[in-house]
This record gives sequence, C-alpha cells and structure tokens, in this order.
Amino acid sequence: MNLRSLLDHLYAEGKAFDAAQADRRSRRRNLSPDAAELLALVLRIGNCRDIVEIGTSNGYSTIWLADAARTTGGSVTTVDVEEVPAALENVTRAGLADHVVFETADGGDFLASRAPASVDLLFLDAERPEYPAWWPDIRRVLRPGAVLAIDNVLSHPGEVAPFLALVNADRTFTGSSVAVGKGLFVAVSDR
Ligand SMILES: C[S@@+](CC[C@H](N)C(=O)[O-])C[C@H]1O[C@@H](n2cnc3c(N)ncnc32)[C@H](O)[C@@H]1O
Repeated sequence: MNLRSLLDHLYAEGKAFDAAQADRRSRRRNLSPDAAELLALVLRIGNCRDIVEIGTSNGYSTIWLADAARTTGGSVTTVDVEEVPAALENVTRAGLADHVVFETADGGDFLASRAPASVDLLFLDAERPEYPAWWPDIRRVLRPGAVLAIDNVLSHPGEVAPFLALVNADRTFTGSSVAVGKGLFVAVSDR
C-alpha cells in the first residue's frame, strides 16, 4: 500500500471508529486530510526540521508531518499523555519510524522540558482549554521564524478563543485562521 492509500485507509478507519465511540476522549479525532496536507506543505515551505506535535492519537497527523520532515531532513517528536501503540504501529507501517520520536507525557510538561528556541514547527492537537497555560513555554521553545499551528479553530471557536487571544495579542506572532477541515490556525514567530 502506498503512503497516500495508507493515510486514506487510516482516516476512513478513524471516522468509522469514532462514530462508534460514545466517549469523545476515546475517539481518534484525526486531523482532516486537507488540513494535514496544508500543514505538511507549510512544514516544507518553512524547511522545518525540529517538529513537535502535541496529541498523537493513532499517528495519522504524525505520518503526514513525518513524511514532510523526510524531505527537509528533519524529524517529528510526537507527544501524548496516553500510551499510543497504534501510532507506533501505523508510523512503522508507513516506513517513517526513523523520522519519529514518541514521548508519553503531558504536553505542558513536555514543553516545559524543551530547550529554548529548539522547535521549528509546533502543532497543537490535544485538549484545547489547556493551551493558554502552555503559552509561556510555547513562546520560549519556538525559534525565530518558527511555525505554530492549532487545529479546530472553526469547529470549537469558544474553546480556542482564550489561546488565540494570547497569540494575537503578541506582536511577535503573525497568524491567520484557514478554513480547511475543522479550521487550522497558522502563525509565524517574528522574533
Ligand atoms: C485530537 S486527538 C489527536 C489527533 C492526532 N493529532 C491526529 O490527527 O491523528 C488528541 C490527543 O491528545 C491527547 N492529549 C490530551 N490531552 C493531552 C495532554 N495534556 N498532553 C498530551 N496529549 C494530550 C489525547 O490522548 C489524544 O490522543
């Protein structure tokens, strides 16, 4: 199976799986393919090498990011508060295991542990109300010119509003919400 076929298969499988799950937190909640494609393109345009994803789930978005990172010579560190055996299996199946580092940790704790100015692209896809508390470390870990991306800005505007207010109030970031999938906010650090 080629990579795109595998991604299409995982996405369809995730949709079917989620439809049968009553508990939202048990769902895979994969990034939509058009948003994933845009994110991968931004990664490549920015020649991003040190990529961090918070919220792995079954590795769908991780595969998109890792495939793009392969072209820049970079790697993806993907962080989830839960163990993610399915993600490891899917990333391996995609032939991208050499481009992904898995971390089991709370996203906020992980960001607090990262060195300053050590991330070229940070993708937040975890529990949205937690993001504002992470903001000081997000600012600290992003390199000048780095990309910050957040999913669900159109599907859950109320939940992301406090975080977007912080980013938009910071004159060292320039961002915009793009109407792909569930809404992808993309910002660049001007520092
Ligand atoms: C929306 S899903 C991620 C979907 C994935 N990015 C994709 O597109 O395939 C959210 C994930 O965030 C994880 N998560 C929730 N709170 C977290 C936290 N505080 N730190 C790290 N991961 C967290 C959940 O366990 C879940 O796997």
